[in-house]
Order: sequence, then structure tokens, then C-alpha cells
Amino acid sequence: MPTLAVNIDHVATIRQARLATFPDPLKAALVAEEAGAHGIIAHLREDRRHINDNDVERIAKETSTLFHLEMAATDEMRKIARRVKPYSVCLVPEKRKELTTEGGLAVAGRVKHFKDYVGPLQDDGIKISLFIEASSEQIDAAAEIGVEYVEIHTGHYADAEDYESRKRELEKIFVGIGYAQDLGLKVNVGHGLDYDNILSFSKIPAINEYSIGFSIIAEAVFTGLKPAVARMAALVADFSA
Ligand code: PXP
Repeated sequence: MPTLAVNIDHVATIRQARLATFPDPLKAALVAEEAGAHGIIAHLREDRRHINDNDVERIAKETSTLFHLEMAATDEMRKIARRVKPYSVCLVPEKRKELTTEGGLAVAGRVKHFKDYVGPLQDDGIKISLFIEASSEQIDAAAEIGVEYVEIHTGHYADAEDYESRKRELEKIFVGIGYAQDLGLKVNVGHGLDYDNILSFSKIPAINEYSIGFSIIAEAVFTGLKPAVARMAALVADFSA
């Protein structure tokens, strides 16, 4: 059965807009859990533009579902992850100037580098996910590195401006999901998914988890967080019916 992990970064984005002490992303995480989220995601960016170190510590300690830490593959982040011990670490590419993660991590051709990087995390019992494009080269490399999960980037599909390109992007994602599953990888999907465009995934078997942030927090402005999460969780639950 697919699960929903809610990314609460943008609760911290609102807090940081005023450099205030609220809204608290931990409080949002607890509400999301109450509303049916199966996991909580926070991206600790190198520039700390939204989530900060203290948020990560508190979320790791006080949430009761699975905590997924998104981060760049740097030494600093690995030290933090080893201290905080999330359920999983999702490695993402990071550029300082981007508004949000712009594409998948390039792991093809860098198998040894990433194997060495994730080894100590895996020794600590932390599961590893790689946020990658739905390309066979990247998926092959992920399998070689020996990670447990890949998260297939759905952003190009979500951003596609016309029917044909949306269809093309979706087809790439579907092929990639099947390819990764055949290699024994568990497959998550995420980026740019919302209450409408997620429906294209309803017939795809065995997606492990949907990783969704922005659309839920945006919806929460109008409905409150609990109904916004509950509505997305109900959609995802229906996919397995
Ligand atoms: N997955 C990854 C790896 C991401 O970087 C993000 C954005 O932080 C998401 C999923 C969630 O994307 P969105 O906020 O567009 O739902």
C-alpha cells in the first residue's frame, strides 16, 4: 500500500519570512501525523533557508511516524544525520540559488563516491534514498550503490505545459518506476505533485511512498493543515484499492 510523507519545509519558510518563532514545523509535523501522514520529511538546506538544525533535532525526537531527512551529500550533513538518526536520508542535489530542488541527483559514473558516502549512514541503520531522474543510467547506478530506495523526480511532469509533454514525462516516469522495481529498489515519487496531477499515478502498482510538500501547505492556507493532509492521504489510500 502506498504511503504519504508530508514535507513541512514551507511551514518553516513562513516562519523565516519574519524571522519569527512561529509557525513551528514540529507542530505542523504532529498535525500531519494526526491527519494520516505516514512519514514526515524535512530538507535541511546548506543555507538553512527554512528548516534549521534545531527543527531537525526536535522533529526526529518527537514525531512518531517515519522521519525522512532530505539533504545534500556533504560531510556536514552526514554528521548531522548520524547524530539525529532519521529513519531515512534522501540525498538531493542542492544549488544555493534555486527556489527548490531543480532536478535529480547525478549518480551515474559516481558509484564509488556515493557508496563511500552512504556506507557509514547505512552502518548506522539509516535507510538511503536517492532523488533521481527516471533514467536507466541513474537507476542502474542507484542499484549498484546499494541503496534501499530511489525517489523518482516528478517535477518535469508537474511542470509540463502541454498535454503531449506531460504524457511524455509521465511515460518516462512509469518506465523508470518499473525498471527500478525490477532491480529490487523500492520506489518513492515526489516533487510538484498536487491534488490533481497525482491522479495520473492511481494505476501504478507498488509505488512505495508519495513525497509531497508545497501543494499541501498551500491548500492548508485555505482549509487548515489537518484537512489538507487528510485529503491527500485519502487520495493516496484510494490508489491501493
Ligand atoms: N522530494 C524531494 C526530493 C524534494 O526536494 C521536494 C521539495 O523539497 C519534494 C519531494 C516535495 O516537493 P513539493 O514541495 O513540490 O511537493
